[in-house]
Amino acid sequence: MTTQTENRAYQRDKLRAEELRSQIAYHEHRYFVLDQPEISDAQFDALMQELRAIEAAHPELITPDSPTQRVSGTPVETFGIVEHRVPLLSLANAFSGDDLRAWHRRTSGLLEREQFSMVCEPKIDGLAVALVYEGGKLTTAATRGDGMRGENITRNVRTIRSVPRALDAARLPARFEVRGEIYMTKSGFEKLNFERGEAGLPLFASPRNSAAGSVRQLDPKVTASRPLDAFLYQLGWQEGGTTPATHHEVLGWLSALGFRVNPQIRRFESIDEVVAFCEGWTGRRETLDYEIDGIVIKVDALAYQRQLGAVGREPRWAIAYKFPPTQATTKLLRIDVNVGRTGSLNPFAVLEPVKIAGATVSLATLHNEDDIRRKDIRAGDTVIVQRAGDVIPQVVGPVLSKRTGKERTFRMPKTCPACKTPVARVEGEAMYYCPNRQCPAQRFRLLEHFVGRGAMDIDGIGESLAHQLMRAGLVRDGADLYRLHEHRDELLQLERLAQKSVDRLLASIEASKQRPLAQVVFALGIRHVGGEMASLLANHFGGMQALMDASAAEISAIGGVGMTIAESVRAFFSLDENRRIIEKLRAAGVNLREESGGAREGSLSGMTFVITGHLERLSRDAAEALIKRNGGTAGSSVTKKTTYLVVGSEPGSKLAKAQQWGTEVLDEPAFVALLEDRGVALGQGRDAEDARTRAADRRDRRE
Ligand code: IVH
Repeated sequence: MTTQTENRAYQRDKLRAEELRSQIAYHEHRYFVLDQPEISDAQFDALMQELRAIEAAHPELITPDSPTQRVSGTPVETFGIVEHRVPLLSLANAFSGDDLRAWHRRTSGLLEREQFSMVCEPKIDGLAVALVYEGGKLTTAATRGDGMRGENITRNVRTIRSVPRALDAARLPARFEVRGEIYMTKSGFEKLNFERGEAGLPLFASPRNSAAGSVRQLDPKVTASRPLDAFLYQLGWQEGGTTPATHHEVLGWLSALGFRVNPQIRRFESIDEVVAFCEGWTGRRETLDYEIDGIVIKVDALAYQRQLGAVGREPRWAIAYKFPPTQATTKLLRIDVNVGRTGSLNPFAVLEPVKIAGATVSLATLHNEDDIRRKDIRAGDTVIVQRAGDVIPQVVGPVLSKRTGKERTFRMPKTCPACKTPVARVEGEAMYYCPNRQCPAQRFRLLEHFVGRGAMDIDGIGESLAHQLMRAGLVRDGADLYRLHEHRDELLQLERLAQKSVDRLLASIEASKQRPLAQVVFALGIRHVGGEMASLLANHFGGMQALMDASAAEISAIGGVGMTIAESVRAFFSLDENRRIIEKLRAAGVNLREESGGAREGSLSGMTFVITGHLERLSRDAAEALIKRNGGTAGSSVTKKTTYLVVGSEPGSKLAKAQQWGTEVLDEPAFVALLEDRGVALGQGRDAEDARTRAADRRDRRE
């Protein structure tokens, strides 16, 4: 009896293993060759893990071509094949601190020593590349492919500016290979997809897919137009020359040669520090402008690495700590539409609730009708949902293999769901609008925006109070809030508002009168004007009146402001009702001038800063705005008047100029330290700020 049951279980496992292998092959093809994955990485990993578990229980079921036996990826012949002299390995995964500690114990046992240094590196979510230099010249660049043979992408990689084409250094090895990761920045990816959307082209699913698609272009000019970048992290092999004894020194050596090495890399002596580093990045990965899916931990001493060797395709001297997935699949129950603050009709997905990275997601944005159609998302579909940091969850796309035929395609309603006014579509834009400016939904969203974070920041006005205030006729727009103190009695009639909470509410409304001009401009909810744009405008005009009086030409003359934005600002202030709002704000004593807003005004006065290269913590525009807000000057070129040159990664020729003038050079940490010394608040830095402005800008673009 038992044997029969066992036999049946065995047959079931055997069938399941075959099924898993064919599913994995299908998804690998979609991922590596077509750059159009249908399932999330986490789901793919789950398939692999299930197969590994079956094979571990029945080793006789392992086939030589099983995906567990090789590094995935099929090189595409069109590009020409490069045979790797030393195979490109993959990495074993750790999913928890305990997994890392277990790896450390094993490694410790093999090395017969308790202590050894380890290097932790962000695991860049791009595609691996192997670069061969001969006589200091880049001669070959290849993808990983299956680890043994990759595609020749030399012509395309030569267009990536941060990859040196020639090295200028004494005592270079005659020939050597450097390995690293090509990736696309998140901001570059969003911009590219936005432009593709406008041009009616299919969108890329992720920065990774976009990078992979970009290096596989037959025309290098196309690659050159894509915002690609690379971090290098390993020496594959070398002929001649001496190289360092530890991985950490190799990284220093690469960096000195002009290769881009990730600035977040750290060396640690204990596994506790390593675990803390990995867990620390789990919540902070959103702060980087590139996607990372984990941390790679490597044994530092190269002699130890050799001693440890590899099992199959996985080195024993390294392991990848994988972050919990930010994607999951769930059922899209239906598509609803809400009305934004500028009247835009925003479709959103109502989902069967699903847990993603610790939070339950039941709603996700769908952008606009064109996007829904492009991605072919239908009600009833199983969809991939993505959640990242504090950004609104998004529907990435449908899982086509789960289609039953019962799904329903989406159609935009013909009338506004809130006020039933027929909707209109602005020519050349993807959005539909409710043209009724009195539409209650629009007014409500505008008010919500006005009191929100980064705008007037008024505590205590949540969704329900905002609704009550409007329904009671106490408030029609944000400016009416400043007359609420005249309506104490009516306020006390509202649900859940007692004496104390009314006092608190009125106090926080009063306090908001001192917000900097940039926040007031942002609070107005002008289409296309996100947080960063509002700062730029406030800085340039210095007062609300000047901004109101400016022509579109004057506005668009500011660096970083395009004509669409300028026209939109113009259109906003040409409406009487909007000018009346400003009048009400002025009458109430709300700050409408730049100077009085800055908290620690003047703390940088007398200093002239020039920024070059890319900063991690805040964008260049934001840094310049911050400098100006605090009384400093932000210049665009180094002169003898320049006090400080701030250098980010990849500084340009300005550095040489600064050396010529003897200008003091600050790297980013030194710059941040100087600001902090002077009491200049950096806010939440690029990360939070970017995530917020990006979300706001995305909304603005839609509205
Ligand atoms: S080391 C044996 N370091 O992750 C060493 N890999 O799963 C293998 N990756 O193919 C590579 N960032 O594409 C290494 N800092 C990093 C990495 C990294 C991303 C990718 C790489 C590799 C894959 C391994």
